Amino acid sequence: MSRPTIAKIDLDALRHNYGLAESLAPGSQTIPMVKANAYGHGAIEIANALASMAPAFGVACIEEAIALRDANISQPILLLEGTFTADEVVQAEHYNLWLMVENQPQLDAILAADLSHQIKVWLGVDTGMHRLGFQPKDLAAAYSTLKESRNVHNEIVVTSHFACADDLNSQATNKQIATFDQHLPSDSDQALPLTSLANSAAILAWPAAQRDWQRPGYMLYGNSPFAQPQANADQLRPVMSFESAVISVREIAAGESVGYGATWTAEHPSRIATVAVGYGDGYPRHAPNGTPVLINGVRCPLVGRVSMDMITVDVTDIQASIGDKAILWGPALPVNEVAAVCNTIGYELLTRMPARVPRAYL
Ligand SMILES: Cc1ncc(COP(=O)(O)O)c(C=O)c1O
Repeated sequence: MSRPTIAKIDLDALRHNYGLAESLAPGSQTIPMVKANAYGHGAIEIANALASMAPAFGVACIEEAIALRDANISQPILLLEGTFTADEVVQAEHYNLWLMVENQPQLDAILAADLSHQIKVWLGVDTGMHRLGFQPKDLAAAYSTLKESRNVHNEIVVTSHFACADDLNSQATNKQIATFDQHLPSDSDQALPLTSLANSAAILAWPAAQRDWQRPGYMLYGNSPFAQPQANADQLRPVMSFESAVISVREIAAGESVGYGATWTAEHPSRIATVAVGYGDGYPRHAPNGTPVLINGVRCPLVGRVSMDMITVDVTDIQASIGDKAILWGPALPVNEVAAVCNTIGYELLTRMPARVPRAYL
């Protein structure tokens, strides 16, 4: 018998979501984003589960890529922020990594490296997010410099990232696409480069963003990037079910309070269930009173402060006993809903889940 806190990971749901991303852009190659431990789901297991379908994987840094290589993942791996230091270029060659090139120092490091093979690069252009990427006016020069380099594979992907694709009413995405298309460099024979634009929100809702490569992250894990229903996103299947169990049940009188700081006081006689999950497991400490928790399949309100290892839930209106199942988020309680109550996004809740929570792959 061990602590009941667990994250169950449904790999069929993952593959369904990957298939949905592929089906929405049949002409594109679909490269799963498995950075940040595959958004908390376990990068190695997620990459293994998609290995027969995915042509490459995307991570944030070389350490994440090497961890996949050490686990025998053989696909090319794209470093989404490129290199942080010049010596990573040689390592990238060794590990068969693709490099995002977002600025002049990264570009210079590639030109200066002593390589025996050409490496593949993705050239980033800033079309409006203003975080990374070359300015559109500098794109053509960067592209032709890379094209001429003996260190760079001839097939360069030009790419950009959207700031507002999750806002279906914003014109920013169309503006970014137009800027991208206007500044796309061409080769001496007028051939256009390969391109990549779409993240999850764009794959689901902005068909004009379909290009040679698409880069889904959040949608793979089965949650919608949108705040409102959206026909394609509604077909996603949540991959993670974050579960624990009731470890104590007690009756308290009206006027008694619960938890650290006595931040919730019972207005009438109440039954309180203690569940074995807390902020040490990635459950948000700032979850307010009323945050929904499923106990025996029924939505019950969190009451009192979240502790490191436990939460307290008002189960006055249901039957609840020690050992009963509690679900913090999962298919029946979207992580987006919990996140919204906690004034954050599902991305953060999933990504912050610590190693302490065992993952069980189903
Ligand atoms: C460059 C890039 N592409 C794709 C993604 C995937 O985004 P999402 O998880 O919204 O699909 C990210 C995530 O931050 C990213 O930084």
